[in-house]
Amino acid sequence: MSRFPASRPRRLRRSEALRRLVRETRVTVEQLVQPLFVVPGSRVERPVASMPGVAQHSVDRVAEEGRRLADVGVPAVLLFGIPETKDSHGSGALDPDGIIPRALEALRKAAPGLLLITDVCLCEYTDHGHCGVVQGGEVLNDPTLALLASEAVAHAQAGADMVAPSDMMDGRVAAIRAALDEAGFPELPIMSYAAKFASALYGPFRDAAESTPAFGDRRAYQMDPPNADEALREVALDVDEGADIVMVKPALPYLDVVWRVKERFALPVAAYQVSGEYAMVKAAAANGWLDETRVVDETLLAIKRAGADVIVTYFAKDVATRSLRGN
Ligand code: PBG
Ligand code: ZN
Repeated sequence: MSRFPASRPRRLRRSEALRRLVRETRVTVEQLVQPLFVVPGSRVERPVASMPGVAQHSVDRVAEEGRRLADVGVPAVLLFGIPETKDSHGSGALDPDGIIPRALEALRKAAPGLLLITDVCLCEYTDHGHCGVVQGGEVLNDPTLALLASEAVAHAQAGADMVAPSDMMDGRVAAIRAALDEAGFPELPIMSYAAKFASALYGPFRDAAESTPAFGDRRAYQMDPPNADEALREVALDVDEGADIVMVKPALPYLDVVWRVKERFALPVAAYQVSGEYAMVKAAAANGWLDETRVVDETLLAIKRAGADVIVTYFAKDVATRSLRGN
């Protein structure tokens, strides 16, 4: 590389057209996934206080929302269900007529082309709010696997296009893969939350999904935030067990992990810009402290630049709506 004055990097920054010409990274709407929260009842659209712009929807309303998302070009949704009743084993998660199967049916009708991804976990369905079977204050790994596998099969039978296990039990991708194959869904992809950290940024989500643990926390199954090598081992296990897309979560504070996963595995990588990341931007913007759209675009770009192919974000609808309008 030549030195100044021969080299003047500013030459290519002199106009928007020039900057566009040499831009290395672009976020496109096609890679965004919008999370949706489905609740019992009908004609329910209940705003989530800690996530301005996000609401819980009943099945009828989620179908309408799905159609609106498809209309603005959002290609995929990630569904979280809140059941009528919760119990110790999260049996609502396995119900073939449960909240998610019903939402899948309604969404499939309302928005045929929309990709329907389902979160596979128990925490929304258990009365203690943990992601697995609890005994003596501990979340048991192996007894949880069969439940997750049945949940995934129930979602597949109801028309899910992809399942996304988020529980962080060891061996769950293998268990889900085997159950899906057995049930006649060998072609149904799994997007595993492979490196999911025990983050303080899930707070607002737990209001939205009504899944705050009744005791303790999730640090005995979700990953310890300081560990990036361990994240690679987690991803390696999930890939080995049959994961098709591997996810890192949260996104922005873990871009080093996104980068290393992409470099090491060269597989489709998803990053989840979580509820706390969303709430921080919304709160600052509401105070007039940050320019929301610019910050949103910059964060999504950073996530993409770090190596994410798929971005799960509560901003998906906004971004798609803006890009339709051409800004
Ligand atoms: C549940 C689950 C969580 C999120 C996705 N699936 C929360 C948790 O583990 O407590 C977080 C998503 C977000 O914060 O937006 N297993
Ligand atoms: Zn969970």
